[in-house]
Amino acid sequence: MIFDETYRPFLEAVRRVPLYSAETGPVGVVLAGVASRTGTRAAHYLKEHSTRLGAFRNYAGPDSVTDLLASDLHAVCVATPDDRHFAPARAALAAHKHVLIEKPSVLTLTDLDALLAAAGQNHVLAKVVYHKLLDPDHKKLRTLVVDRVLIHVNNGFCSLLEPKSISGGQFSEWIRGRNPGTYVAVHYLKLIDFTFGPSWSLDRVTATGQRGLVGPPDGTTWDSVQLQVVYRHPDNREAAFDIHTSWVTPDNFPGYVEQEVQFRFDNAVWNAHQRKRGVELAVEKRTPSELKNTPNYHYNAAFLEPWGERSQRGYGIEVIERFFREVAFVEYGGPADQRDERLRQMRSLTYNDLSADRNCVAIVQAMEAILAKAAAGVPGCLVKVNGPDGGLALYEPRNATPTILYSGRV
Ligand SMILES: NC(=O)c1ccc[n+]([C@@H]2O[C@H](COP(=O)([O-])OP(=O)(O)OC[C@H]3O[C@@H](n4cnc5c(N)ncnc54)[C@H](O)[C@@H]3O)[C@@H](O)[C@H]2O)c1
Repeated sequence: MIFDETYRPFLEAVRRVPLYSAETGPVGVVLAGVASRTGTRAAHYLKEHSTRLGAFRNYAGPDSVTDLLASDLHAVCVATPDDRHFAPARAALAAHKHVLIEKPSVLTLTDLDALLAAAGQNHVLAKVVYHKLLDPDHKKLRTLVVDRVLIHVNNGFCSLLEPKSISGGQFSEWIRGRNPGTYVAVHYLKLIDFTFGPSWSLDRVTATGQRGLVGPPDGTTWDSVQLQVVYRHPDNREAAFDIHTSWVTPDNFPGYVEQEVQFRFDNAVWNAHQRKRGVELAVEKRTPSELKNTPNYHYNAAFLEPWGERSQRGYGIEVIERFFREVAFVEYGGPADQRDERLRQMRSLTYNDLSADRNCVAIVQAMEAILAKAAAGVPGCLVKVNGPDGGLALYEPRNATPTILYSGRV
């Protein structure tokens, strides 16, 4: 799904017009190969899109990633299901490839540490896709925070509700034992962490949710998740955020995906709705399924440009292009003996570098552990971050002895 929405349009566009900057000159990007479980959809692309994508190698099956990494390429994008990012990402880094991983990057801090070590040892970039940071509304939110127009965030809520077709169709192959929080709450976790940090510290995490639609009511597959994260500002005041996610909203919901945020500051309130940005559309027999009633054309849409060209663009595609610009800068942005300095500069970009993903991964790991405990009959757990017992310590109700999820500092 995400390949078709964002990677394909980027790769098609860059094949026509190479990346360019004053430091690098023109840099061509071509899709060298694809590794997947069955190779079916890649074969479809080779048949239907090869004129725009070029002829790439299609590797399928259990050895597909190994085969892909043995071929001649510089960068690897990992867009496997949430709990299958780590192995291909580590293998790619070990093979000296720059790596871009779909959110959530990985599900545990131990895995994150391993990827950071591999990127360091092999002198390559390890980055994660958070396209919401490139949404113009979120860029403006952060600009207003940095410029101290919005002062001192205190609390807020975010909701991201996906339709039933996601849990029942698109993800049905790997959804068993999974939850919608890991998959989509991370969008807002990163938005909060990046926009209002880094001076504050993550303090604690709680979560609950509902079951019974995607799987049995007493099983490990979740329909919806309500997550609360609490940060502590340097002045010791706390900030709390509630993030509600679901993948069981009706398929005929007007916008398909429902996304809303509200942040409250000492002096301000910020309200935003991802799809109610002004356009409302009704077309007989085509909305709300094929066309959306309240579309978000800023994320990703196909356009006829005023100058006659057909294009597909938006911040969902721009974020992929940025990664390749960063790779191009490292490899071609100056003399070879200054590559390490260029690598350092690109690693210091906290919007996408894995080294800046610690809080998000910590929250995901904590949330998954809390949900697992609830599924095992112990609801109501809390994870304390960087407390006296370790980096991530899970406390069950009425039990003073924590389970240590991660002993190092988050
Ligand atoms: N940025 C976003 O807004 C966004 C949106 C959707 C999905 N995503 C992320 O992208 C990732 C993929 O989601 P999707 O919706 O594209 O899923 P999808 O099910 O459409 O595609 C997953 C692909 O991974 C392949 N795959 C599965 N296991 C594999 C393995 N072991 N080795 C090699 N290939 C394997 C499958 O063959 C399939 O092609 C997820 O991590 C998801 O969270 C991000």
